Amino acid sequence: MIPFVDLKTQYESIKEEVAAGIGEVLNKANFILGDAVSSFEEKFAAYCDSKYAVGVASGTDALHLAVKALDIGSGDEVITAANTFVATVLGISYSGAKPVLVDVDPNTYNIDLDKAEAAITPKTKAIMPVHLFGRPVVMDKLIALAQKYNLKIIEDAAQAHGAVYQGRKTGSFGVMGCFSFYPGKNLGAYGDGGAIVTSSKELYDKLKMMRNYGSPKKYYHDFMGYNSRLDTIQAAVLNVKLKYLDEWNKGRLHNARLYNERLSGVGDLVLPNIKDVDSGVFHLYVMRTEKRDQLMKYLSDNGVGCGIHYPVPIYSLGAYKWLGYNPQDFPVTEIFSREILSLPMYAELREDKIEKIAELIKKFYKEN
Ligand SMILES: Cc1ncc(COP(=O)(O)O)c(C=O)c1O
Repeated sequence: MIPFVDLKTQYESIKEEVAAGIGEVLNKANFILGDAVSSFEEKFAAYCDSKYAVGVASGTDALHLAVKALDIGSGDEVITAANTFVATVLGISYSGAKPVLVDVDPNTYNIDLDKAEAAITPKTKAIMPVHLFGRPVVMDKLIALAQKYNLKIIEDAAQAHGAVYQGRKTGSFGVMGCFSFYPGKNLGAYGDGGAIVTSSKELYDKLKMMRNYGSPKKYYHDFMGYNSRLDTIQAAVLNVKLKYLDEWNKGRLHNARLYNERLSGVGDLVLPNIKDVDSGVFHLYVMRTEKRDQLMKYLSDNGVGCGIHYPVPIYSLGAYKWLGYNPQDFPVTEIFSREILSLPMYAELREDKIEKIAELIKKFYKEN
């Protein structure tokens, strides 16, 4: 059995440090916004080439709070990619703003920046690039577009902790960058968690109040905020894990290269392109094949866990039918939803397992 995600092996390698970190929180009994939260925020901001970080309850909340912090709401539009996890779009629509979807680029799997310009209207206030699967969006092109139309950039970096684009970390390009610490992420907590990074002091101060009932000091509430704080125990876990993130990301990249080597030229597979720089941190290893469903079943019958990211495009989800899109307007996203397949991907995935998966895939194509 080769699981799609394996959180246990990684945990075994840091068990004592995690226990010590959690033990410290329990001993101090400062459970809400305790020291571990501020120390993590400081380290994570620096890690992300940003001045500040604000820990919040989830990646979804990070996106929601970021949109609200810019006073974007009813009557406004925010552009994002049609192939993403639903939370990206929830982050926009919770504020009352309308999500405007743009098809994705078949080479990068990210928002198609040539198509994005046509989606801009006088109501557009912001653009939310998603560094999907850990691959950075081509940020210089996106920044030029945002500047041309005076749009704010809020990055959804929930899958891209540590990814670098032209020497800078993803999350640091926009006015805010949003992260998720969902357990399976490259930097995952042992429960829910998220963060917003920014280099604006004004936004930092506002976000700190927003996550804490709109409160600058206890029992004084300047506006209707939220209860969305990064849990102190989760921050203690993240303080340990942040130290290993670069090493784990390197392991993912190494494994992605191994997959590419072993699977190159096999069947009709379209593999992710890997350049030396800006290739991302491989939160997921995603390939394409017209035989996706058959191959997925074959792998699963042979004990290999796989995933589809994502089987139903945003505009076809029950939650977003009201946007009124026609699937034909998103030809690449449509193909992706039928053809993409994610193979197991984590730093702890050993070479012999990758060999085994590659052998199985080759056998599948011989038989089919
Ligand atoms: C691209 C993307 N955006 C947002 C989120 C939301 O994060 P969370 O699950 O922490 O709310 C996730 C992950 O779940 C994600 O993959």
